[in-house]
Amino acid sequence: MVELTLPKNSKMTEGKVWPKPAGATNLREFRIYRWNPDDGANPRIDTFYVDVDDCGPMVLDGLIYIKNRIDPTLAFRRSCREGICGSCAMNIDGTNTLACTKGMADVTAGAVKIYPLPHMSVVKDIIPDLTNFYAQHRSIEPWLKTTTPAPQTEWLQSHADREKLDGLYECILCACCSTSCPSYWWNGDRYLGPAALLQAYRWLIDSRDEATGDRLDNLEDPFRLYRCHTIMNCAKACPKGLNPAKAIAEIKMMMVERRV
Ligand code: SF4
Ligand code: SF4
Ligand code: FES
Repeated sequence: MVELTLPKNSKMTEGKVWPKPAGATNLREFRIYRWNPDDGANPRIDTFYVDVDDCGPMVLDGLIYIKNRIDPTLAFRRSCREGICGSCAMNIDGTNTLACTKGMADVTAGAVKIYPLPHMSVVKDIIPDLTNFYAQHRSIEPWLKTTTPAPQTEWLQSHADREKLDGLYECILCACCSTSCPSYWWNGDRYLGPAALLQAYRWLIDSRDEATGDRLDNLEDPFRLYRCHTIMNCAKACPKGLNPAKAIAEIKMMMVERRV
């Protein structure tokens, strides 16, 4: 389990207990981090009750229930509700995961406790500021880079080379891994973190890409790559079952191999 670490701006107070839905007999308690940059108040934990008999089964369904029926000011991100867009990443019951693929029933003990992704600045409530995370992704230049003239139809790739991208291309950039990584917590401004490095490796081993040397040069830095200490929180946290730590180890191996 990824240990819960409170967001950067947390000086927590107990918040409001919202009324239970009238007539409901099957209730689930939600305890949710709230913070509004505009009211000057400290962050707080609000308590809500969801009518499970009148709500979908996922934690995201519970959040939508609360927003639609109890408190429309509750702020969170979501889009696909299919585990594809990565928008609804948050810390649920002490673990970074996707609210749309986490069942309420999977939280077995007590209330469903929801916080923003750990160690990030908060925009509002459970919305983290991902500006730096996206800038880091951009910095690894996540697109095909070639020097030879473009073919008339498409860049071809063998089945075997295509298979090398399995376990990498599925990344949805949800940030669950990076925000569970202690190295990223302490050096997130300089260490790229597991998500960006998994993406970097995805392009490094793409047989069609012709910028391997430049890409490795871009990572050759005591902080950008080498702050990974193989703690493995990232692999535990990934809701898509990917292993960023392994990708990082492969990059380090490529660095060694090009020196010999
Ligand atoms: S293996 Fe590396 S990237 Fe993954 S959590 Fe540990 S330090 Fe972070
Ligand atoms: S590697 Fe997994 S946890 Fe990390 S950003 Fe990609 S999908 Fe999310
Ligand atoms: S809403 Fe898209 S991954 Fe959850």
